[in-house]
Amino acid sequence: MIIAIDGPSGAGKSTVAKAVAKKLGFSCLDTGAMYRAVAWRAQADGVALDDDAALGRLARTYDIAFGHEPGNPAPKQVFIGGVDVTDAIRTAAIDRAVSPVSAAPSVREALVEQQRRIGHAGNYVVEGRDIGTVVFPEAAVKVFLTASDEERAHRRVRQNVDRSIGSIDFDEVLADLRRRDEIDSSRATSPLRAADDAIHLDSTGRYIEDVIDEICTLAREKEHVI
Ligand code: DC
Repeated sequence: MIIAIDGPSGAGKSTVAKAVAKKLGFSCLDTGAMYRAVAWRAQADGVALDDDAALGRLARTYDIAFGHEPGNPAPKQVFIGGVDVTDAIRTAAIDRAVSPVSAAPSVREALVEQQRRIGHAGNYVVEGRDIGTVVFPEAAVKVFLTASDEERAHRRVRQNVDRSIGSIDFDEVLADLRRRDEIDSSRATSPLRAADDAIHLDSTGRYIEDVIDEICTLAREKEHVI
């Protein structure tokens, strides 16, 4: 069974996806981390961010893998080509590089294939931008999670403070979120949009536990065994 969670940056997808997976005993797949890993590899190899063919070659050549801790559905580490990039993919430089990389059609083709292979191997909560529309259009539950721009920026600043990486300047983070939303929503290949049959949840001002419980209830209604 697949639970698809799509939405813009900072809407709370990662927190919600991990908690839902834990409650239901599912695994968790963060597809944004896969695009970030390819962006990191492109920068390390000096590949131009508008070179679709070269970026596609990277995405097909280097294996992306996740490291898990026993009993925790959320991966603790991200590897590309055997290199641990868990922290390296969360920097402001990768925030900027990942939008053009994720707009490259050949990168999307390669990563969508990997995502389908991973997801079909079990019960997964999959978070991203095109999960309900492109990667798993047959997903049992599709959620489009949003929050106001300001709330998303506040959350991202708090996250950056906790991780000691990325910008902690509210205005800079807000401008960056809006810029990325614009690129993600207007790109030609798999733009960010809700699937026609997605349930829209706005997490602004809501307890995140309520959002998590609502998604678990939707999943249980679909699948009586959970
Ligand atoms: O969720 P995130 O911020 O880690 O995602 C990083 C980038 O990857 C973001 O610019 C959107 C893009 N992305 C995408 O295009 N498709 C996905 N399924 C997941 C992320």
